[in-house]
Amino acid sequence: MTDGFIINGGNKLKGEVRISGAKNAALPILAATLIAEGEYILSNVPDLKDIKTMIKLLKEMGLEIDKIKEDTYKIINKGIKNIEAPYDLVKTMRASFLVMGPLLANVKKAKVSLPGGCAIGARPVDYHLKGFEKLGATINLEHGYIEANVDELKAGEIYLDFPSVGATENIIMAAVKAKGISILENAAKEPEIEDLCEFLNEMGAKIKGIGSSKLIIEGVEKLTPGKHKIIPDRIEAGTFIIASLLTGCELEIKDLELNHIDSFRMKLEEMGVQFKGNNNSLKVKANLKELKSVDITTLPYPGYPTDLQAQMMVLLALVEGKSEIKETIFENRFMQAQELNRMGAKVKIDDGMATIEGVNKFTGTRVMASDLRAGASLVLAALVAEGETKINRVYHIDRGYDKIEEKLKNVGAKINRVKFEVV
Ligand code: EPZ
Repeated sequence: MTDGFIINGGNKLKGEVRISGAKNAALPILAATLIAEGEYILSNVPDLKDIKTMIKLLKEMGLEIDKIKEDTYKIINKGIKNIEAPYDLVKTMRASFLVMGPLLANVKKAKVSLPGGCAIGARPVDYHLKGFEKLGATINLEHGYIEANVDELKAGEIYLDFPSVGATENIIMAAVKAKGISILENAAKEPEIEDLCEFLNEMGAKIKGIGSSKLIIEGVEKLTPGKHKIIPDRIEAGTFIIASLLTGCELEIKDLELNHIDSFRMKLEEMGVQFKGNNNSLKVKANLKELKSVDITTLPYPGYPTDLQAQMMVLLALVEGKSEIKETIFENRFMQAQELNRMGAKVKIDDGMATIEGVNKFTGTRVMASDLRAGASLVLAALVAEGETKINRVYHIDRGYDKIEEKLKNVGAKINRVKFEVV
């Protein structure tokens, strides 16, 4: 048996949705607690499957981790007991690979299973490994594990061929302890990376250029743990903004940082959406029938976020006219399209480009989540579809959305979690 959702579409949603902490900030920041011994307090940590997986991994490495409040963890690092991130954990969550930089910084060695690909792409880690080598590490691949060793991390000049989020984070977490001044050129600039850098600087790291594509990192001998509040999840916020627009209602969305998704906001405004409120608390208003179609190209931050591509596809599929979405970050991130077509959408995929002809309704049916954001897009489509939709394999959605069915139920959606036969 596997968890699924049964959703009856058509309900008007009304009320308040509070945005949880950012999964993609919490994961690298949790990994960073491997770097220095002492006591950390992390707050606004979302309650997600991926967070549980990361905590399990850190405990296996020797950290003591206790949940002291709903969204707050105390982490005590008394030294690393185990430097290995095993295949079965890395397989379920590739962000486990983010322990490599911190382990090199603390104990100068790491053994991490090479993450496999996933539904959205091959997702290699070559930029991570090239960065570690530039900092003096020796890298070996044996029996599916990456083994990294270094006598002493030394500063290096690293150019990323692509502003990879994970590679930027992993290299930063090693470079903060590398002797000398490292330069990371063409670094990714996502808000989650800024949050990681702020956290490391609060611990005594010396990172300059935060938020820019050129990071200058002066290595330090010692870092001192502290407290940190994780930033809000901009992708969850964008997902609920689209839920509000699809159902033609005015959800009050709180605890977000709208300025972390400026490109998304401006695309919606181009369509005719009006935002009311402020950066941390807003309502959106629009009549689907009056929205204009737009074209989207996903790009590294501050470009349009790939993690909001599937959700936007649902909205564009119900807006009159033709839209095009170009996915430039991952090679296979349109898995939701066929499922949406089964609900009545008209989406054609051709070599990284989705062409969407707006239709005037979806009808409910059985669909299957293939990855996190594709799964979220099916929930959105079901909220506005005529009749009942059954979504299978919602474990994908649980990886990245904190209590999504509770948050939706609280604002009037008809959604229930059920058990389905495994298919
Ligand atoms: C992070 O993944 C996010 N995950 C992803 O969010 C997000 O979609 C992605 O960044 C892009 O914004 C976390 O932060 C935990 P990348 P990451 O390295 O770091 C290629 C979600 O839905 N690449 O920026 O893995 C790679 O194959 C998840 O929350 C290399 O070729 O993304 C991809 O095509 C999904 N070699 C592109 O770069 C490398 O060494 C972007 O990957 C690294 C990456």
